[in-house]
Amino acid sequence: MSVLTEQQLRLARASLAGGASFSQALAETAPEAVGTRAVLGAGRQVRSAVGGAGPLLQPLLDDPQITDILINGSRGIWVDRGEGLERVGGVHQLFSHEDDVRALAVRLAAACGQRLDDQSPIADGTFAGGMRLHAVLPPLAAEGPLISLRTQRQVIFDLDELTAVGTIPASLRHVVDALLERRANVIISGATGSGKTTLLAAILSSVTLQERILIIEESAELRPRHPHVVHLQVRRANVQGIGEVTMSDLVRAAMRMRPDRIVLGECRGAEVREVLSALNTGHEGGWATIHANSASDVPTRLVALGALAGMSESVVAAQAASALDAVVHVRRRGAHRFISEIATMERSSGELIARPAVVFSGTELRFGPSWPSLTQRLGLAG
Ligand SMILES: Nc1ncnc2c1ncn2[C@@H]1O[C@H](COP(=O)(O)OP(=O)(O)OP(=O)(O)O)[C@@H](O)[C@H]1O
Ligand SMILES: [Mg+2]
Repeated sequence: MSVLTEQQLRLARASLAGGASFSQALAETAPEAVGTRAVLGAGRQVRSAVGGAGPLLQPLLDDPQITDILINGSRGIWVDRGEGLERVGGVHQLFSHEDDVRALAVRLAAACGQRLDDQSPIADGTFAGGMRLHAVLPPLAAEGPLISLRTQRQVIFDLDELTAVGTIPASLRHVVDALLERRANVIISGATGSGKTTLLAAILSSVTLQERILIIEESAELRPRHPHVVHLQVRRANVQGIGEVTMSDLVRAAMRMRPDRIVLGECRGAEVREVLSALNTGHEGGWATIHANSASDVPTRLVALGALAGMSESVVAAQAASALDAVVHVRRRGAHRFISEIATMERSSGELIARPAVVFSGTELRFGPSWPSLTQRLGLAG
């Protein structure tokens, strides 16, 4: 962890007093402070110098068990230590007033280069070390400023590790390997926090070293262990409402950047049109994640996203069925996360459906109607 000298602290205070953002002040005075912990560690000093609440949060950030920290105005803090949400005791001493939470939210947003104020009341950013921040100010947030922090695991899992902990059932490991090696186009689906991004990072870490992986995200979060990864991130419109660069713009740009793998961190908007078109026009081996409670919900979700881009249901169905080779669904049960289903995307009477190839209950594996077609597509002995 970086420690600021007295002189750096004085300079940081002067920069802040001169109107610099928190991240600018840090970058100017302590450019060596890189990485989430380092930024927050150094930031803690600056924050405490200007009356911040950083030190109060530090024990939570330092706890390796904690994956999520949720601050609900001055009403309380909840954390996830892997077993679901639990309330942190004694929080009333942490933030006595909503204004403290708001000030913290603004500083955290600035530390990851985001603006957060009345004109721009939602911030979504990633710290240099990978920790993700989401913050919403009132009146959008009715209970006071809301801060959500998702910590980044220091160690990124690889496929062997995920197999060892049971996230990839041993009997399905060869299918996951084949999806990657056979350059299938795959969507990883799951509920919030079910481990979609973690599984995708592990899979991308196994991409052959010669390939160029191009990742498009709202804010850079996926960090596979691979030597040739480039990220494109969206940009919000400025106060005048100009300068926005959307996910759709980035997918179009990505196609001209000689990617071997186009990866969409999370598909949640109209960019589904460009993604399906890219995957249908020779960009094979693409991966994306999507929020859905089951594999069978993915078609409805895709149709809804397609509608945002003005696509009719039948166009989404036709494009998704031909572009996507499989949906891999992940599920969380307590602290355990595992692949619970692999399905194929097909059309039935014109409607898009996810047909189960294999379903895993957590203990038992059952093969579904599309197992033969999946194994055939992947060149696996049925
Ligand atoms: N297989 C796993 N074993 C243990 N912990 C995991 C596993 N997968 C994910 N986690 C932890 O759970 C948290 C959520 O994981 P992740 O970000 O991958 O979920 P997600 O489904 O992508 O979430 P979101 O819906 O927010 O995009 C992370 O902090 C991660 O470290
Ligand atoms: Mg995710």
